This record gives sequence, structure tokens and C-alpha cells, in this order.
Amino acid sequence: MHNKIDSLFSHLWQDYLTITPSAKKVHDLLEGYESEHLGKSAKLGNDHIALRSFNIEKINLDKLAAHFLALGYTEQGQYDFIEKKLRAKHFEHADETQPKVFISELIVEEMPPIVQQIIQKMTDDMDDNVAQQDNFLYSGTHWQISTQEYETLVAHSEYAAWMSAWGFRANHFTVSLNHMGHFKSLAQMNTLLKESGFVLNNSGGEIKGGPEVLLAQSSTMADQIEVEFSNGKKLVPSCFYEFSQRYKMPTGKLYQGFVAASADKIFESTNTQ
Ligand code: NI
Repeated sequence: MHNKIDSLFSHLWQDYLTITPSAKKVHDLLEGYESEHLGKSAKLGNDHIALRSFNIEKINLDKLAAHFLALGYTEQGQYDFIEKKLRAKHFEHADETQPKVFISELIVEEMPPIVQQIIQKMTDDMDDNVAQQDNFLYSGTHWQISTQEYETLVAHSEYAAWMSAWGFRANHFTVSLNHMGHFKSLAQMNTLLKESGFVLNNSGGEIKGGPEVLLAQSSTMADQIEVEFSNGKKLVPSCFYEFSQRYKMPTGKLYQGFVAASADKIFESTNTQ
């Protein structure tokens, strides 16, 4: 089972790096810094990954989740993002060393008709069984749209626009500060990242949450990567890297859930402006 989990996350990570070159740089910077200060070789821990989808039957949140349930994950939390027309669930494995998984979906029927039409056009030709394919979670787009359609989506939902350009793949990985020996706070890590030239998401403040909600998060802004649309190429935001610090609950165990108000702002790491 663990080999299968490792293999899935390895595929997701390799796919993510192909469109997120800054994540590799941040990863190497933090791992190098940590190793140097601890005087031994350090490995970064991954707190969670996030995946996105549409609530269209054949490709919805539950279809993505099925891949993780088959690997021993269980649903542990539900979240609603009213403004963004999104809902999400998070999944954990009994083995706490395995990354958590956060999966969201756009509630398509709550979008304006023009957005619904574009999404229907994108997804209509997908096979009914497409989500069951082994590689579905890192299969990218199954459609092509024009830059005008992309801009229409941007105007109504940055999330829908991101899905149209990138499809099914990890939207972000997350460095776990709790697994680090040198860094003691997200602020300390953020300072190093900014001094090294990386741009952080400032929506809702650089650090979202904190000890009072048992989870603090920050993230880079997504890389800008060229995508081939039906009528030409265009630079659009791809993926970002997140950083998390979890705090102890009264029971003494680290909080493992997510905080909707913070996640709401983390979504904006892929905004076009
Ligand atoms: Ni996240």
C-alpha cells in the first residue's frame, strides 16, 4: 500500500515540477538551508497536496477522492467557500506520515450561463470512466479552449480559469514546518524566501491563520507559464508552493484539519492579478 501511495505522490510531484519551476528552487533552498544549519542531511516533509475539479458527475470531487480512499485514506473534513462557489473535503491516512489531501470542486450550476457553457464544452467529450484511469490525478487537461474563453472564465472565476488551463494535477504541495529542525516560525521562513526573491501571496496577510486557529499557512504566488490555447499561446498562472505550521490541540496532538477562512485566501495564489 505504501509503495502505491509513494508512487502516486511521486508522479504528482514530478508533474507539478514541470509547470512550477520555482517550487524546485524553493525546495532545494529550504532543504539546503535546513541541512546546513542542522549539520546533517535534511528532508522536507509534505503536509498536504491540493487538487481541483468541477462538480460534474464523471469528474467530481468524489471521483478524485476515490483514488485516495482506495489507498486507505478517509474523509476527515468538509468546507464551503460561498463567495467562490466552491466546496472541499480533506482526507487523511491512518499513517500520519502520509500527506493529507485537500480536494475542491467548483459548483458549476452557480456560475453564469456563459461560464457553464464553456465548462460543458470542455468536459462533454470526456469518457464517463475517465476518472477511474490510474493516471487521472495527473492527466492535466482533456480539452482545449481559446484565450477569449479563458479570459471569460477569469472574469467570473479564477478557479474555473485555472482548471481550464491546467486540468487535473496537484495544484500545490506544502512544506511542513513541523518537520523542520531549524525553522521555528513561518515568518522566519517567509523572510528567507523573500530575501531569495520569491513572491508570496499577500491576500489576507502574508500568514493566514495562526495559533488561535491551530494552523498557520503562507504560500508563493503561482509561476507564470506559457499555455497553448486553440488560437495561440498565453502566459498564465500555474501552481504555487505552500508552507504550513500546525499547533497542538488541548489533547496534545497536532491539529490536522484546515481553516476555511485561510484556504479561501490560499486559493488566490493562482489569481491572474
Ligand atoms: Ni493547501
